[in-house]
Amino acid sequence: MQAWNIKQNIDCLLAMRDQLGPVYGSEDLCMLLYSMVRREQPRVVVELGTGFGASTVWVASALKELGDGRIYTFDNGSHFQDASVRAFLSQLTGPLHDLARLSEAGSYEECMAWIFDHADVADRVQFAKGDIGFHARAVDAVAQEQKIDLLFSDFNHAPNTIIPLLGAYLPHMNATSSIYIDSASTYLPSYWMLDNLIRMLNAKRIPAVLRHGLDGDQLTALDELVDKSSFQLVHLVEKAPRSQNSTAWIRISTDDLLPAHATHVRP
Ligand SMILES: C[S@@+](CC[C@H](N)C(=O)[O-])C[C@H]1O[C@@H](n2cnc3c(N)ncnc32)[C@H](O)[C@@H]1O
Repeated sequence: MQAWNIKQNIDCLLAMRDQLGPVYGSEDLCMLLYSMVRREQPRVVVELGTGFGASTVWVASALKELGDGRIYTFDNGSHFQDASVRAFLSQLTGPLHDLARLSEAGSYEECMAWIFDHADVADRVQFAKGDIGFHARAVDAVAQEQKIDLLFSDFNHAPNTIIPLLGAYLPHMNATSSIYIDSASTYLPSYWMLDNLIRMLNAKRIPAVLRHGLDGDQLTALDELVDKSSFQLVHLVEKAPRSQNSTAWIRISTDDLLPAHATHVRP
């Protein structure tokens, strides 16, 4: 059987990128994440904030092309309740015409199921509607079983969210993995906080606020990760005068003389 290829459904994916992506400024980011997934081949991807699935379907397409991996995505549907959002969805055209009709009477879950189905990636996506609680379901549902290779947080970029988020998720990240936090690089308090935090982690110091609320196993896992990994912070900033114009990328990699993920290094 021939491997699945993004070309089979490219019109639908491009329509989602072009029509749904700009709502959250993710029309280019979704393709960046698609490329990163293709290159680094994560098996477990977690997305916090599904929105209308523009980023989800592109990440899931890359996983489907690779033939492995799953994206676990969480959203409480709060934006979908908004009348202006419904009005926006109801004027979608082209391959998204049926979504426009569905959004007028259908639920958020029904619309998301339609999106994943029509992008032909439903088998790579596990979507759950509900509040993102750091010490509860989002972490429990995925990470108790397996370590996370890629975390994309796209629902809140303030320090008082990012700190508990990192406290909850770092113990569940693979020793080589990536965390992307949308909009954090161009929100000054988060930009400064992340710079300081990464400096501390690289000095093998874990701030007390990061440990807050963790159980014994999580504390051990956090200590181990910080002990054996290095942290790089890259501010991916768009040259665009809009509010959602950046993503903070935290690259975690095992302390080594070779670059992360290198399987072939020329002597
Ligand atoms: C920026 S959008 C996600 C965009 C999407 N990742 C993309 O790139 O197309 C943020 C989403 O987070 C959801 N959200 C906000 N706060 C939340 C919370 N506390 N729990 C769960 N979802 C939340 C909103 O309903 C919204 O759909």
